[in-house]
Amino acid sequence: MRIDILTLFPEMVTPVLSSSILGKASEKEIADFHVHNFRDFSESKHGTVDDTPYGGGGGMVLKPEPLFRAVESMATDKDKKPRVILMCPQGVPYHQKLAEELAKEEHLVFICGHYEGYDERIREHLVTDEISIGDYVLTGGELAAMVVIDSVVRLQPGALGNQTSAVEDSFSTGLLEYPHYTRPAEYRGWKVPDVLLSGHHANIETWRLKESLRRTSERRPDLLDKLELTTEMKKLLAELEQEKKWEDKS
Ligand code: ADE
Repeated sequence: MRIDILTLFPEMVTPVLSSSILGKASEKEIADFHVHNFRDFSESKHGTVDDTPYGGGGGMVLKPEPLFRAVESMATDKDKKPRVILMCPQGVPYHQKLAEELAKEEHLVFICGHYEGYDERIREHLVTDEISIGDYVLTGGELAAMVVIDSVVRLQPGALGNQTSAVEDSFSTGLLEYPHYTRPAEYRGWKVPDVLLSGHHANIETWRLKESLRRTSERRPDLLDKLELTTEMKKLLAELEQEKKWEDKS
């Protein structure tokens, strides 16, 4: 998978792309990162990339030419256009399903602006997707692009040491992840649940599913509404409901 990042601040992204799982994915040639300063694509000799808005008003607006030139220079295959993603608070809210969709692409281009607005023609004729990572405003799209790239690259086959870890993630299953424990079996008097020490595989699986359901219903009940519940899930949810009633009584 090839990933191009267009930014005026390459120093904000290169350390992230060369660290941890992303760095390893790059070394293993699972992800091929290219960071570009789109000032280099400016036609002016001063490297101007923004200008004052038509109609007046404050702030600066990113000009279309440098971004069109940059994206067009990196098309690897004339027939297959890359997904060109603009990071902005007005975009569609980011979620795991979109990460899974983007993970199937061969080529992604991220446009990261900083404090400026974008000339609308960039949105209309260059960009294929606008993505927001949440209802808050960052100083630029770089950190948001890193969030999206991290979540997409870790889904590439071979990117994580242990492939099952991506499959069982929170959100991939539609549920939040169950609690994890490791040695010691008792720490400061806090014990690991007996079932996890029992070696009884089927009971462990049931416990994990129940704890996932407990966590999801407590923290993200909206996720449960979207899920098609199996008979086992319904039974476990009924048990949780019953346990809650007992707790409320005592
Ligand atoms: N740029 C600034 N704020 C952002 C956000 N919330 N998501 C994506 N890009 C952004």
